[in-house]
Amino acid sequence: PDESGIDGWLRYAPLSPEMASNFTQYTSIIALGNDETSPVLTAAKELQDGLNKILKQRANLSYDLATSTDVADVIVVGTIHNFSHAGGDVGHIPPLKEDGFWLDRSQNNSVQILGQNDRGALYGAFEFLMLLAQGKPCPFGYVSNPSAPIRWINQWDNLDGSIERGYAGPSIFFENMAIQDDLTRVSQYARLMASVRLNGIIVNNVNSHHDLLSPRNLAGLGRVADAMRPWGVHIGVALFFDTPKSLAGLSTSDPLDPDVIAFWDRITAQLYQHVPDLIGYLIKANSEGQPGPLTYGRTLAEGANLFADALKRYGDGVVVYRAFVYNHHLDESDWKNDRANAAVEYFEDMDTQFADNVLIQIKYGPIDFQVREPVSPLFCHLRKTSAIIEFQVTQEYLGQQSHVCYLPPLWRTILDFDLRIDGKPSPVRELLSGERFKWKRSGYAAVVNVGSDSTWLGSHLAMSNLYAYGRYAWNPRSDEVAVIQDWIRLTFSSHPTVVNVVTGISMESWPTYENYSGNLGIQTLCDIVKTCHYGPSPAAMDNNGWGQWTRADAHGIGMDRTVATGTGYSGQYPREVSQIFEKIESTPDNLLLWFHHVPYTHHLKSGKTVIQHFYDAHYEGAANVQTFAPRWEALSGLIDDARFKHVLFRLKYQAGHSLVWRDSINQFYLAKCGIADKHGRVGHH
Ligand code: GCU
Repeated sequence: PDESGIDGWLRYAPLSPEMASNFTQYTSIIALGNDETSPVLTAAKELQDGLNKILKQRANLSYDLATSTDVADVIVVGTIHNFSHAGGDVGHIPPLKEDGFWLDRSQNNSVQILGQNDRGALYGAFEFLMLLAQGKPCPFGYVSNPSAPIRWINQWDNLDGSIERGYAGPSIFFENMAIQDDLTRVSQYARLMASVRLNGIIVNNVNSHHDLLSPRNLAGLGRVADAMRPWGVHIGVALFFDTPKSLAGLSTSDPLDPDVIAFWDRITAQLYQHVPDLIGYLIKANSEGQPGPLTYGRTLAEGANLFADALKRYGDGVVVYRAFVYNHHLDESDWKNDRANAAVEYFEDMDTQFADNVLIQIKYGPIDFQVREPVSPLFCHLRKTSAIIEFQVTQEYLGQQSHVCYLPPLWRTILDFDLRIDGKPSPVRELLSGERFKWKRSGYAAVVNVGSDSTWLGSHLAMSNLYAYGRYAWNPRSDEVAVIQDWIRLTFSSHPTVVNVVTGISMESWPTYENYSGNLGIQTLCDIVKTCHYGPSPAAMDNNGWGQWTRADAHGIGMDRTVATGTGYSGQYPREVSQIFEKIESTPDNLLLWFHHVPYTHHLKSGKTVIQHFYDAHYEGAANVQTFAPRWEALSGLIDDARFKHVLFRLKYQAGHSLVWRDSINQFYLAKCGIADKHGRVGHH
């Protein structure tokens, strides 16, 4: 089988002999610690392996700093604490945050890789190696600190081995209602995660199953934690709210019932025995048919605090409670109904009621990972309760890895957005870092859904999103071009043609996908009735209970979400922001139909009508995709054949599918409104 994707961006391809000759011959690696489960030892072994592959050097491994200080050409890796304990001088090192690290090179070419903790040491080692793999020397005196403590992944893996919204084969974690025997891929996944400084993972689907907590599976979760721990990745689980009823046979799962409380206490104690460093619980409740506290007449806070209290008694895990609570049987005939309003309506009065180890996890937009959404207004309604943003690396609505879609440009529209809370600068990234409201724990989660396919995500190019997610969670101000180019050099090659072609395709990919899938804030016009969320189906985007609506009729299109005449959604933002969205004139074109219902003949700021914009954008988008495969063909011979062909196949498929998108959407709206394309393209097929 083709294994060309397993190492992802950690291929450590050898440098050319000329480039390699610029580097020191490292004689040894000194690890300040030799505990098998510690990321410090992992870091030392990774350094050995990387030097061997990138520079063809064989450095030996030792553990004693005392005998080696002042020796040239050594690499020291460990925590600041252990370094100073062993007599090293740390006086000049600036303060490090949890997981942060210090990299330095001395005049005699020795390297110091020192972490604030074990994990930081590992992150520093990866930084050193990923620079080296790009032919870049270790910097002098370089500090790197994370933007936020929580940088997690959510896997939507089911116990039977299937993955909800997974596009790369069965689970690497589960099969036949149990944890896999062979966890090799799980360790490899943790290695990729650690290299981009992701430190936690919820291993199972938010639509969880009570069998996860059977004695056999609790032990299995312990093995998963053991496989990931050496990489500094700790695990947590998603819980099924009704487990007391369905697993333990209790008559209720009411969060205030003493037997229910005792049940979760017992389970939590058992889980901590197997996973002493459990990061916590993720809860999807009262959402899309899942039971929850509301089922038992209790508040969302009472539901969350049930788990929070149990965790507190045994460890320092947190409850991550998802804000994705809404009615999925919403009636479209009422123009005031709006799913986008739901999260704020459910959570705004709860802010002071959650225990201090509860965090609210909020999807970036108020609906569901659409090609473009405004920032969820719930971020403006939490002050006391800290938040985690939820991104999606798995491209559920964005072409499911059969279309290329590099996501950082989309993420930046969210992270950089200034919510103007209390009239003060409030970019989303400053909320997530905890700075704005002095949160202790907050940060990032992304639904990733890797599978057992050797490409991890089903497509080599899609891996740039996993890599970038780690980079953005660490530093949300990262530059999207710099990030993709590091990834390209590590994954494929530093050859200028490779770098230019892949950068071009990646940077164009999201705007291009938006052009042919759903414009002007109308959402991804995909099939939501069959719930596959793939392929064009504009008709499916109305008359459904999900509340993902366009309100398209013969005359107009868009959701009126104004306070003045619509659903009132724009009023969920602070005044300065809501004033912008309340008025058509100040709403940016790319969110026009999200906030307003307008005639197809309405003139955009660009001067075009809405309908002509639809036609043109679909032609432009689909035309641009036609260039992707021919551009990629320039890489023939510059990268290995297996990955060259794998990507080429997908780009050709995407070229065809984009035409299907273009024509389905354009024909649909032509039929709705009867307004001809002024360039005469639509309707003549
Ligand atoms: C989306 C997705 C579901 C998922 C849900 C969630 O609606 O299509 O598969 O379960 O989000 O985030 O809980």
